[in-house]
Amino acid sequence: MALTPEFGPKDIYAQIERTGIQGRHLNFIDDLSSDELENLFITAGMLEPFWRSGLELLRHRILCTLFFQPSTRTRFSHETAMYRLGGNVLTESNPLISSAAAKNESLYDSIRVISQYADVLVLRHPDDERVLADIEQLGSDTVPIISGGYGNVTHPTQGLLDMYTAWRVLGGDFSAMTVMIATPDLSRARSGQSFALGLARMGARIVYSGTTGLRTPDVIREKLDAVNANYEEHNDLTITQQEDLIADERIDLLYLPGCSVKKGDPGRDDFMKKMEEYYFTVDGLSRIREKSGKIVGVMHSLPRNEGEFDFGIDATQHELYFKQIGFSVPLRMSLLANIVGAS
Ligand code: CP
Repeated sequence: MALTPEFGPKDIYAQIERTGIQGRHLNFIDDLSSDELENLFITAGMLEPFWRSGLELLRHRILCTLFFQPSTRTRFSHETAMYRLGGNVLTESNPLISSAAAKNESLYDSIRVISQYADVLVLRHPDDERVLADIEQLGSDTVPIISGGYGNVTHPTQGLLDMYTAWRVLGGDFSAMTVMIATPDLSRARSGQSFALGLARMGARIVYSGTTGLRTPDVIREKLDAVNANYEEHNDLTITQQEDLIADERIDLLYLPGCSVKKGDPGRDDFMKKMEEYYFTVDGLSRIREKSGKIVGVMHSLPRNEGEFDFGIDATQHELYFKQIGFSVPLRMSLLANIVGAS
């Protein structure tokens, strides 16, 4: 046995210093190195005892949440995290109705203005290219901006909370994990793609299951290649073939990105038809367990819809999706404390 050089009492301020990401934006999960990711999770572990009670790491600091698309989890959990850290929140959940965006103010100007009020901004926006161009142009004229989801391609804080949940449930060794990401539409699965990119950064193995013609966007494929991702892709499998794959490949976690086509939107019927082959059931998960001896953890970014998901999984050991919600609070506390910098 060897003594570890960093042995000593846990110190949250020293830990935040060690993570070293104060003042940074977060656009894609691979903006963070593997050391930075690990330190974010270590910080989250230190903050976990306080996720229901709180501590005053960010007293008098202000978070602004500006959401151009609907949200329950991402907005509320960042806001909960800020309140639990002793900070305050400015929130705009309908900017095209009730902010100056309704008077055609540019996103660039809105961010510059908000930066005079808040210490950090969490932004959700449908146009990833537009947001990334504005952030580049803003340079130092903005506070740190955390993506709460941009376009179809990135939702890094979802990926982080998914990674933190995986890290906690499987004991912290990403290189030993195999994760399957299954959806009929990988081209619009920003949650699953962010999780995959983070997993790849940490050396996990990824198995994609999708549909021909709706593949992982090029921007993500380039990033996966850049981090030497260990991934494989399967297309157009039936549900039975997917169950066999999970058992044969000894998959630890099945991730369902919750990408959907809403009632009334074009392509709904086609999507629901494809979704039939992604309808994982309690019985199917039991068959996988009989074949492989493994209890596969089922993760989902939520929301989920009737007809796309077997709600019976809720009462089984497979359920991780509501646990993800719990883990999202200490993870986002860690992210805010590390990016704003504790005082
Ligand atoms: N998972 C997720 O992004 O949920 P919301 O759309 O409710 O934020």
